[in-house]
Amino acid sequence: MTPLVQTAAEFRNACAEARMDGPLALVPTMGYLHEGHVSLIRAAALTGKQVAVTIFVNPTQFGPNEDLSSYPRDLRGDLEKCGQAGASFAFVPRAPAELFPPGFQTWVEPGPLAAPLCGARRPGHFRGVCTVVAKLFALSRADRAFFGEKDFQQLLVIRQMARDLDLATEVIGRPIVREPDGVALSSRNAYLTAEERPRAVALWAALGAVRALFQAGTREPAALEQAAAQAIERAGLRVDYAEVRDPRDLERPQGASLETRLFLAAFLGKTRLIDNGAVGDPHRLG
Ligand code: PAJ
Repeated sequence: MTPLVQTAAEFRNACAEARMDGPLALVPTMGYLHEGHVSLIRAAALTGKQVAVTIFVNPTQFGPNEDLSSYPRDLRGDLEKCGQAGASFAFVPRAPAELFPPGFQTWVEPGPLAAPLCGARRPGHFRGVCTVVAKLFALSRADRAFFGEKDFQQLLVIRQMARDLDLATEVIGRPIVREPDGVALSSRNAYLTAEERPRAVALWAALGAVRALFQAGTREPAALEQAAAQAIERAGLRVDYAEVRDPRDLERPQGASLETRLFLAAFLGKTRLIDNGAVGDPHRLG
């Protein structure tokens, strides 16, 4: 079982000690770990001498009508997975007040990268993400931090924040890990009923449909987006967004190129699923 620290002060000390031993890698998570998280911990263990995993369901990144109170938790299972994947220790704040004590009042406000897509649908979400990640970077002073492309916009927003605030932690992005049927692993997949789970493949199917269209020569963003939305709606999901964007600045391109990314969010029942991928990539599982 991975050693556990539960206060911000203990986390700061554990990281300082770890850094004396060599480069420290950080993997921030909200727990209920799956193979996507595990892939980040493994990648971190390959580059860092020591790996700190954080498990914190950050209340400041949830909207008032979102799933903060029902977010799945399994601390015992998480610590076991951390150990197997090569984590040195885990920071699991014993209460949110450990990071957001009474009187807390300073926030990290991201810029235009946080405006479209999830930023437009979840007001304040990336402000909460940036603030907690800035605190984790400050406490750990990690050499590198690992994030998944599953949350591609989050990765860009955090990388920009690190650059803008001169944070010494290098932000590393890693590919999306998927189930055999193409569904991107997510802690929120735990919400899906047995009837819903097979239909979650709709986002992957939409990405496949768009890649096929691109391959056949379609370049107009609107045509690609419409095909994606139709594929998702056909499976009975409600589209939150289906947009093609430039992977560097998240601007909408005039015409799609190989690296242009399709960004998807859809509701399956009450569960909100997200996914994304480059339209020019071959459509096969990794
Ligand atoms: P969480 O959703 O737990 O995700 C933690 C990290 O795992 C993120 O970097 C996310 O992109 C990555 N991840 C999730 N599913 C993945 C998959 N299928 N393949 C690859 N990587 C995957 O993202 C958060 O937590 C929070 O916003 C956090 C950054 C911890 C700040 O609170």
